[in-house]
Amino acid sequence: MSTRTTDLSDLFPRSTFDPDGPAPRIAVLGTGYLGATHAVAMAQLGMEVVGVDTDPNKVAMLTAGKVPFYEPGLPELLTEQLATGRLRFTTDVAEAVGWADVHFVCVGTPQSKTSHAADLRFVEAATTSIARHLTHDALIVGKSTVPVGTGARLRELVADAAPAGLRTELVWNPEFLREGKAVQDTLHPDRIVLGGTTPDSEALLRRVYAGPIAEGSPVVVCDLPTAELVKVSANAFLATKISFINAISGVCEAAGADVTVLADALGHDVRIGRQFLDAGLGFGGGCLPKDIRALMHRSNELGAHQASALLQQVDEINMGQRSRVIDLALEACGGSVLNRRVGVLGAAFKPHTDDVRDSPALNVAAALHLRGAQVTVYDPQAGDTARSSFPTLGYATSVDEAVEGADVVLVLTEWDEFVDAEPARLAGLTHQASVIDARGKLDAARWRGAGWSFRGLGRAAA
Ligand code: UDX
Repeated sequence: MSTRTTDLSDLFPRSTFDPDGPAPRIAVLGTGYLGATHAVAMAQLGMEVVGVDTDPNKVAMLTAGKVPFYEPGLPELLTEQLATGRLRFTTDVAEAVGWADVHFVCVGTPQSKTSHAADLRFVEAATTSIARHLTHDALIVGKSTVPVGTGARLRELVADAAPAGLRTELVWNPEFLREGKAVQDTLHPDRIVLGGTTPDSEALLRRVYAGPIAEGSPVVVCDLPTAELVKVSANAFLATKISFINAISGVCEAAGADVTVLADALGHDVRIGRQFLDAGLGFGGGCLPKDIRALMHRSNELGAHQASALLQQVDEINMGQRSRVIDLALEACGGSVLNRRVGVLGAAFKPHTDDVRDSPALNVAAALHLRGAQVTVYDPQAGDTARSSFPTLGYATSVDEAVEGADVVLVLTEWDEFVDAEPARLAGLTHQASVIDARGKLDAARWRGAGWSFRGLGRAAA
């Protein structure tokens, strides 16, 4: 790939919005989870791509073919795309912006430290920085998850910061990728939402996404606020579905019913569907919790209080699941975990990731530790990330080590390794063969048959 670091003059004739022009060059600002995956995927779709980040360590790692987080399939694809010469990474925003035609904003929007609002500093800084460094016409595409109304404000920032005489557009194209399935979700999206486009920018983005569109990914063209809201509404709906089944699991437990069987039966109804009906410890991670809180905050600001009240309940039910598991652990230890050994299987907020942001598993482990338990955590991937967030917990390097001498074993993340574990052998390692299945994935009859006292959320005690 040709890289230009000083002389950008030859780029000026480049017409970004020309439908017959050369293939658009892509800049991706922010190379975290979203940005790194997006940059690699754009290269895989055949475009020349530069990933930009202010963190030189991240840029150096990605340039060396190393992904700074665990995401199945991404390291292989990164190596492959670096080798094609279509993909590179830099900290030099001026050079990248001067080179590219389409600029994707993929920086984080964390929850503000002092409220439920999203912190938009990074999105504003990245967008302003693109605008300031533009040397030719450009399309700025927001992908980060933002509160509705953000795009309109960013358009004002772009208008103020961009050099006079250039044609710039800012549109929203939200990303719906799941951790653990990020590559698949980016290359084969369920839908492509284009918000606030003109016919020219829509045509340009249809060229960018020509691959997935040819495969059948539906394109939804809408206004800017609708596109912003689609993303947070999707996450709010998924969170609501999880809290719904968790609320019903409380009824199941009280009535002696089995929520896992109930969920299967519900799921056969095509209007409902089986996905996101796994009752258990509830949702966590870097997206669902912060996104529903930001939507609550924004709905209230807009006077749409009902949406906010609904999501408040969803959040309450979700957090309540953590207390239910803590209560079951206390019960299993005779009312107190003080000086009792607790084996915790799982630290990641879900399997196939090393992400422990707002992880329900670690939250429960830490709460039991604070009640005086000796907690030993094992996770196949998230041991290191968990240790850096909660250094005071004990960490094991295997299931056996975690359950050894335990008075109670908690399965808090449904890794296959735990679901497939051999209960008869593990029972022999514990002090007391008592297990709490907080994800509803263990075979209760098998564990009970191997001598375990078995408790699960939404499943009656034997
Ligand atoms: C989510 C959205 O799915 C994705 O579209 C968006 O772009 C980012 O947020 P992710 O955070 O990777 O993706 O996780 P997801 O697979 O949605 O799971 C979220 C949480 O819900 C996890 O903690 C998971 O354990 C929990 N969950 C999921 C349940 O408790 N029950 C279920 O049935 C499904």
